[in-house]
Amino acid sequence: MTAVGIDAVEIWTGKLRLDLPGTFAPAEGEDPEKYTKGLGLETSSFPDAYEDIVTMGANAAKRLIDRKGLDPQEIGRIDVATESAFDNSKPVSTYIAGCLEQVYDDDFHHANKGERKFACLAGTQAIDDAYNWIRAGRNRGRAALVVATDTALYARGDPGEATQGAGAVAMLVTEDPSVVELSTEQGYGSADETDFLKPNQQFPSVDGKRSMQVYLARMREALTDFESVAWDAHPDDFAYTPFHTPFPGMVRKAGLLGYRHMIRDTEIEDALEGRIGRQPREEAHEDREAYEEAIRGYMDELKGTEEYRSWYGDVIGPTLDISRRVGNWYTGSVHLARMSALRHAADNDVDLAGRKLLVASYGSGAQAEIHAETVVDGWREEVEATNLDDQLARRYDLSYEEYEGVHDRHNHDMDVEMEEFTRPDGEFVFTGWGRMSERKYDYVE
Ligand code: COA
Repeated sequence: MTAVGIDAVEIWTGKLRLDLPGTFAPAEGEDPEKYTKGLGLETSSFPDAYEDIVTMGANAAKRLIDRKGLDPQEIGRIDVATESAFDNSKPVSTYIAGCLEQVYDDDFHHANKGERKFACLAGTQAIDDAYNWIRAGRNRGRAALVVATDTALYARGDPGEATQGAGAVAMLVTEDPSVVELSTEQGYGSADETDFLKPNQQFPSVDGKRSMQVYLARMREALTDFESVAWDAHPDDFAYTPFHTPFPGMVRKAGLLGYRHMIRDTEIEDALEGRIGRQPREEAHEDREAYEEAIRGYMDELKGTEEYRSWYGDVIGPTLDISRRVGNWYTGSVHLARMSALRHAADNDVDLAGRKLLVASYGSGAQAEIHAETVVDGWREEVEATNLDDQLARRYDLSYEEYEGVHDRHNHDMDVEMEEFTRPDGEFVFTGWGRMSERKYDYVE
């Protein structure tokens, strides 16, 4: 069977940055360590006055198309994953294709375009759609372009304001890919939940603490489901495990849960027995409450073991580097985690080809999906071709007052003009509204 997977990735960060411990925390009267130690965040990205989900997505896609030397005719599908859409009918992919058609001679008139929604999970689902389209033989040799683009803003004063971010990840899905090969085995954990939602509103209604519990519960289900079709996962099976990362502290909790699950009945559990005992088994407890209490005790002990700390440092820590510096990009977040791990491997000269990643996506509402991917030859060149470090270094550092202005500027209920902080240079920009309230864009040389 021909390999199908991700052939190239490009990232576009919002061009502004907010220093969370240095600027946001003091202004909010909070301890900076809530950000650095608790949530695991340093800065978050925000869009400048002329940026939005379309410009960020189109700019990431243009970098990808240019770098791969593609003609629009070679792309048969454009799917946008977002939970920040501003149009309930016309998909963001049409706006992005329209932008791209301003700069290429050819067009995307024969590409199937759509928009995927399931909170932060949609980027992974759009990749699934692309994979299935290619596997079904419907792609006529063409590639699929998947763009995960979001502006993750919360209402002022909402606790979620701590975990904002903005940016886009563009991914090309093809046969014989150069980054990772996808597999057919997938595990799902899905239930009707009201942890985070936006019923016809821009800023989410969030039950933050509940959303964290739901994330963990759905992930656990997805891992069990994955194992039922794949194999009993072992911590040594994976070079990295990129998780959906609303903030790194969330992944700290998920990583511990995953590790406990994977070491059950393995030589690692045996080796730990003398120090922290064996994992509590439900059948040995009077009721669920007693069992959960025992599990919490075991997890507290497990967290401090050398085995866990070293696994976490090698397999999870490297997936969090980008997120720590850009915040939550919703649909793009798990794909940033994958890139973060691959960049870490490239920087440290790790030979990754043939190694597996366990990718754990999540969308509120709620659904988790877990699958394995195999890194393929070519990954290093692809990762080294991105320019994320330059983009991050060039971000404008906002004061608190400037941040307040930026939040208002991107609030759909406010009509606020704002001077731009950066100058567009070879990119798409938002220019205003057209006669049918459509958003308009130009390419600035
Ligand atoms: N030093 C070290 N750690 C600190 C600290 C300090 N001074 N102050 C707080 N912390 C820790 C807290 O203990 C907590 O960690 P824990 O969960 O491991 O106990 C963490 O920092 C966050 O602090 P908390 O007081 O819980 O923050 P909050 O009430 O402002 O809310 C979220 C945090 C994540 C719930 C909130 O930002 C949110 O709702 N975000 C959006 C929803 C979301 O992302 N959900 C995740 C699923 S997708």
